[in-house]
Amino acid sequence: MATKLELVTLPDKLLRKKSAPVERVDDDLRKFLDNMLLTMYEAPGIGLAAVQVGVPRRIVTIDVVNKEEDREVQDPIFLINPEILWSSDDVATEEEGCLSIPDYYAEVERPASLRVGYIDREGRKQEMAAEGLLARCIQHEIDHLDGRLFIDHLSKLKRDMVVKKFAKAARDGTKPVF
Ligand code: NI
Repeated sequence: MATKLELVTLPDKLLRKKSAPVERVDDDLRKFLDNMLLTMYEAPGIGLAAVQVGVPRRIVTIDVVNKEEDREVQDPIFLINPEILWSSDDVATEEEGCLSIPDYYAEVERPASLRVGYIDREGRKQEMAAEGLLARCIQHEIDHLDGRLFIDHLSKLKRDMVVKKFAKAARDGTKPVF
């Protein structure tokens, strides 16, 4: 049985920490992957980095199918030590959100397609091409591994507004309203 983990949200400084590589893929790690996946599904979200559940290691779970209404169809991807090998000059702009920045959404420009190298949950080296929502999600999650958030892609004015609202809400014991 998987366990739902607690999400780390702004203004927690852990979100700014660079995650360390995973050295070994074993049963303990696979158990953690299952816990991450359950946490992501229940949030609900389409991507989650380990640092978002308090573990600053280079681990990502993604399921862009989870965005659809039909939650019966699941297609999880586990990326361990992911690395972008190539990204397109073509860019795309779409709205993004983040489980660590609840209720805030903004348009972000990113390369439209990419190739990513990673270790899978069996410990095998893999490569994958991605475009559209999957490419966006992979970039968003790898940003997390480097302590970067999607608001870092916005203007300083917008970013400061978001950070201030979360800091104030944390002080007041409330939730920020956008
Ligand atoms: Ni995020």
